[in-house]
Amino acid sequence: MRRVKLTFAGREVEFADREAALRQLERVAERGNTHPLVMYGPEGCGKTALLRQARAILEEYGYHVVYVDPLAREVGEVLQFTPSIRDIVLDVVRLIPEPYSRIVDVAISVAGHVMRKLSRPKIAVLMDDIFQAVGVDKAEQYVKALLNLIEYPPSAYEKAVVLVTSSEGVTAERVGRHRWADMYVMWNMARDGFAQLYEQLPGPKPSLDEAWRLTGGSPEMLIRLFERDWDVDGVVLSVLGGRRLDDLIGDLDHDGKRILEEAVWDPDVLRARETAELRRVLAEKNLIIRVMLREPRLWVDVPPPERDPELGIGRYYAWQTPLHREAVRRALEVTGP
Ligand SMILES: Nc1ncnc2c1ncn2[C@@H]1O[C@H](COP(=O)(O)OP(=O)(O)OP(=O)(O)O)[C@@H](O)[C@H]1O
Ligand SMILES: [Mg+2]
Repeated sequence: MRRVKLTFAGREVEFADREAALRQLERVAERGNTHPLVMYGPEGCGKTALLRQARAILEEYGYHVVYVDPLAREVGEVLQFTPSIRDIVLDVVRLIPEPYSRIVDVAISVAGHVMRKLSRPKIAVLMDDIFQAVGVDKAEQYVKALLNLIEYPPSAYEKAVVLVTSSEGVTAERVGRHRWADMYVMWNMARDGFAQLYEQLPGPKPSLDEAWRLTGGSPEMLIRLFERDWDVDGVVLSVLGGRRLDDLIGDLDHDGKRILEEAVWDPDVLRARETAELRRVLAEKNLIIRVMLREPRLWVDVPPPERDPELGIGRYYAWQTPLHREAVRRALEVTGP
């Protein structure tokens, strides 16, 4: 299997590790999906990287792939496709007014046209972080449209695969309450894969143990630390400022602050019923993730450990990375009791 090239901290690297996820993707490619598969996980854990690798695998299995990345920096990257369906894509793009503002609709339409024009094709629709682009309120609607494509195709196909990624904290609840999609959680990198990325970075740098303890295996956090010359405080403050954690905490009453303080030490205190609102806000701000059940079948790649208090991973809830947790701790300190 070809491993795709990715950019990591300004360097070209090969897609690293994630062996279990690659096997899962091969199984998907062999069988096709009966439902869209939605993968969500911590910001910067490697969802886009995996989706790019998925494209390569699916093409190796003979799929015509439509790949949508609405938030891509280059216009040319917003809609990508296997060269075999170039004419069909261009026809659809011509038909739809302002295609780039409705890129998700365009991709669904392309898939329909491919089914109609080619004889029993293998077709894959890959969508990266579309809920941010279409609006979280429309997430369910789009997942349903993708399910319809599989269940009521405009014409017969041999196999179809629909993969959607999301970094939106509310995805699991919104999409997960229907039968319309299979939801999977993806965690940060496991230690070996993380070590491979760490090795690519030039020194001076902290030890691998220290980098792991700080990032919990998040490739994105590793990049951020590297780019700031390992200024941990700087990264913590950027998370704090970017998410306006001081405002979040300012809005809490005395009990809310107390629970949050406890959650810094043990995220599982957020299980309690009276913490529902705080939990919702923390998930929406992409600070925590529900990680209940380490059943490998519910995860993309490998689940996080059962519990790892040092990394902020509880049995039921986990901080997205130790740096997210540290930003919350710092914000509590700054805002005072
Ligand atoms: N398996 C991997 N091998 C090599 N590089 C990786 C791997 N996973 C992630 N990266 C790199 O780490 C960085 C963050 O990964 P990526 O952008 O895929 O995360 P993400 O989950 O899509 O983030 P976001 O939530 O912001 O969309 C990128 O530079 C990416 O190329
Ligand atoms: Mg991404």
